[in-house]
Amino acid sequence: MEDYYLGWIEQIERALSKWGCCRVEGRPRMVVVTGMGGSGCVGDYLYTIASTRDYGLPVTVVKSHRLPGFIGSGDLVFTISYSGNTLETRLAYMEALRRGCRVVVVTSNGYLERDAREKGLPCITVVKGIAPRTALPEMLLAVLNVLDTSGLTLVSRKEIEKLRKFLKDSMGRAYNEAVEIAEYIHENPGVLVIATHTPYEVLAIRGKNEFNENSKIPVKTDVAPEWAHNDIVGWEKPYTREWTVLEIIDPSDPVGTRLVDFMEEIYRGNGYPVKKLLLKGENILEKLVYGSLVLGLASVKLARLRGIDPLETRNIARYKEVVHTILEKP
Ligand code: PA5
Repeated sequence: MEDYYLGWIEQIERALSKWGCCRVEGRPRMVVVTGMGGSGCVGDYLYTIASTRDYGLPVTVVKSHRLPGFIGSGDLVFTISYSGNTLETRLAYMEALRRGCRVVVVTSNGYLERDAREKGLPCITVVKGIAPRTALPEMLLAVLNVLDTSGLTLVSRKEIEKLRKFLKDSMGRAYNEAVEIAEYIHENPGVLVIATHTPYEVLAIRGKNEFNENSKIPVKTDVAPEWAHNDIVGWEKPYTREWTVLEIIDPSDPVGTRLVDFMEEIYRGNGYPVKKLLLKGENILEKLVYGSLVLGLASVKLARLRGIDPLETRNIARYKEVVHTILEKP
């Protein structure tokens, strides 16, 4: 599974080779991204990049079978599902079509690919046969591709070329950092807390999901400054004292760094071990991809240290077998 993460440079190259393949007409009122789990993360990344770049369009993320009532025919909806079969995503997709939204599908296979092709909808297919969560760069870049090609640029092709070079240069460092983090967590087996500052809540969530799915552990996320208005009090009298903290910091953000320094005083005051992941990269996209790569690889390495198969997600499969009886029963 390590190879799927080490293959991110090839994913970027594949995405670049498809640049310009798909466009939508007109200027939407809002960009909506729907999807679940590893595919749903794409929406979080898009939201984070847009909100730090004064993007002219609002971005809404939907990780549910329900499409919020405010989404309508003026909106552009990206439907993301690696397998193309996830029921929540299919239901949101059908509802978006019913409401007359412009819909773009990003998938590798399955119902969504077939249906989009039949209906003549824009559809970008990504590499087949890997774990959905490891296809993050190609799925994210597919969305950035359609936006750029449609004159709604959030990230340009040039920036993606720069990302490719950055990742190539940083792969070795990311790998070593991931191994250190995995060993640190394994040697300090409390409940993992991923602590960060805005706008990197997306990385805390992505890290949580990666350690959930690949390493099979529960994880708590702490995001400052909101953390300082609730979680901080929870740290006064927790039931268990066994916690292990991983901090994610953008060193070029002095406010974010000071916020996490303050968090660290509380963690250390409680006697918890703390380790830092300092984000590398020159812009938000590079920092997000670097952080995601380190966290993904670390979660796989931790699974190996625990003698666990990182690929298998037994309980998700169990849920997917019965989800139609949960969501579709009247
Ligand atoms: O990474 C995973 O395996 C999961 O988080 C899936 O992404 C999630 O179950 C949704 O499936 P899909 O990405 O195929 O829509």
